[in-house]
Amino acid sequence: MFQTDLLAGKRILVTGGGSGLGLLMGRGFAELGARLVICGRRREVLEAAAPELGGAEVHVCDIRDPAAVETMLEAIWRTGPLDGLVNNAAGNFIARSETLSHRALDAVLGIVLHGTAYVTLGCGRRWLEDGCRATVLSIITSYAWTGSAYVVPSAMGKAGVLAMTRSLAVEWGGRGIRLNAIAPGPFPTEGAWERLVPKPEMAREFEARNPLGRAGEHAELANLACYLMSDYSAYVNGEAVTIDGGEWLKGAGQFNFVGDMMSDEDWAALKPGRSK
Ligand code: HXC
Repeated sequence: MFQTDLLAGKRILVTGGGSGLGLLMGRGFAELGARLVICGRRREVLEAAAPELGGAEVHVCDIRDPAAVETMLEAIWRTGPLDGLVNNAAGNFIARSETLSHRALDAVLGIVLHGTAYVTLGCGRRWLEDGCRATVLSIITSYAWTGSAYVVPSAMGKAGVLAMTRSLAVEWGGRGIRLNAIAPGPFPTEGAWERLVPKPEMAREFEARNPLGRAGEHAELANLACYLMSDYSAYVNGEAVTIDGGEWLKGAGQFNFVGDMMSDEDWAALKPGRSK
């Protein structure tokens, strides 16, 4: 689908790039010529991923810690600027909201909202100082708009990341920095599914209630991310692209459930001029 050198010469930091969606997008970037930098909390996970990312540069960093983020960015910039940032690192689990401790709330918001802002502002400051062109892509979710029961801290954090994306797209766009977001629907990965989909029937439900009848394929997400990180999307700024097979729309349309309840005979009986 893409020129094999689509991302050649681009140095891209993927937060949480050692596993899950970060790793699968990173693979896509590396295949198209990008030089990868990945960060995460666990060195062994990062080092296991690095070879399949073309020997990615690895930084152990918990993005909840602003000093650790600064130390990492200093180290990265010592060997040259980044051209792109993918805000992928996230934290989430399902819980009844009334049971959440303040530490549970902070654990998720610390990663999703604060951590994403620390990395984005840290990179942005450097890009603006140096007059560099750059692209930021943040992974959000469709419930950044709609909210969602049982994942309230995550919904609050992702809504904030969407607001950050749109705000900075305007503030920094004229100075060469684009910001966009992707809202993926269900793309099963080990880490997320372990925390969010504890029962097999829940996994089946994600597929059954999707208009396309299936979860997303990893390459489908990677391809969209590659496009948005490439110069071919140079005029796309402040946009959030949903890639969910129509999942959230199916829940939204008032009559969407009707198709599942009506047989061919039921529809025929509704037609004007039907036989009396
Ligand atoms: C209630 C919980 C909990 C749970 C943790 N806590 N899990 N409370 N239900 N299932 C509480 C703990 O009891 C503790 O509070 C506080 O949260 C911090 O927990 P720790 O385990 O000490 O924190 P930490 O080790 O830093 O782990 C952070 C985490 C964890 C966010 C809680 O889940 C994590 O590391 N996640 C990273 C990976 C991840 O979540 N990936 C999925 C992203 S998917 P107390 O008060 O007891 O001390 C995504 C989009 C989803 O974001 C879209 C899907 C379609």
